[in-house]
Amino acid sequence: MSPVQPHTIQKEARSCESCHASSAALGYGINDGKYFGDPSKDLIVDLMTAEGDIIPQNYVVQKPKIENLHMDWSRFVDENGRQLQTVGHHFKLSEPLSNAVRKLIDRRSVCLSCHKIIPDKDLAVSLMAHVAQFAGYKIDRDAHDAILSKNLLLVAWVQILFILFVLIVAIYLLYRFVLKKERVK
Ligand code: HEC
Ligand code: HEC
Repeated sequence: MSPVQPHTIQKEARSCESCHASSAALGYGINDGKYFGDPSKDLIVDLMTAEGDIIPQNYVVQKPKIENLHMDWSRFVDENGRQLQTVGHHFKLSEPLSNAVRKLIDRRSVCLSCHKIIPDKDLAVSLMAHVAQFAGYKIDRDAHDAILSKNLLLVAWVQILFILFVLIVAIYLLYRFVLKKERVK
């Protein structure tokens, strides 16, 4: 996004999640721009009604409002890909991450790609989960890592072997019914 940024070096490598699962890194703002959502209003943290009216008589304004500033300045693009502010005045091609690149990076809520279904919305997994439960098998971090990598490799191999199997059957049938007949003639 910013071609010249002198403060990006540190000894510790960044975590994958600090980009791939971070709304701020994607350009959607700190906390998706919710926390500082509307700076044109005073920020007050105190007891509130459901409508947002402050209940106590005495309260302190934590951050005074800034007139006419209606958006969170940590947001560069919205979720529909609309650019919200100018980024990079000095260099050609400096810009918020493009829609295509954000699509490649965005791995937020990746847990739900499995856990919408797992553990109880699919018969086979549900059975395995029950067996694990009765066996007293606790799925800690290491077990989870192991299940995930083993399963993904398994799926890849099953698919490759299935394709190979189909190919072999096809070649066999071709040989059996087409080539043999020609030889008989
Ligand atoms: C500084 C931000 C940043 C960090 C940290 C980061 N990535 Fe990425 N990653 C990106 C960006 C940006 C792309 C998309 C590049 C492109 O194809 O345009 C990407 C792409 C990828 C891709 C390829 C996706 C594809 O479709 O080709 C993989 C895989 C990946 N990252 C894994 C990781 C892993 C694993 C880690 C942690 C060890 C990590 N990344 C850390 C920013 C980051
Ligand atoms: C590729 C699929 C997949 C992904 C992605 C995934 N999980 Fe899982 N997870 C599983 C499977 C399979 C199990 C074992 C079945 C079960 O007991 O739920 C499991 C089990 C768990 C359990 C233990 C449940 C129990 O019954 O003890 C927790 C907690 C969990 N996952 C959290 C997460 C979190 C948090 C993420 C994201 C950071 C995540 N998972 C991502 C597949 C996945």
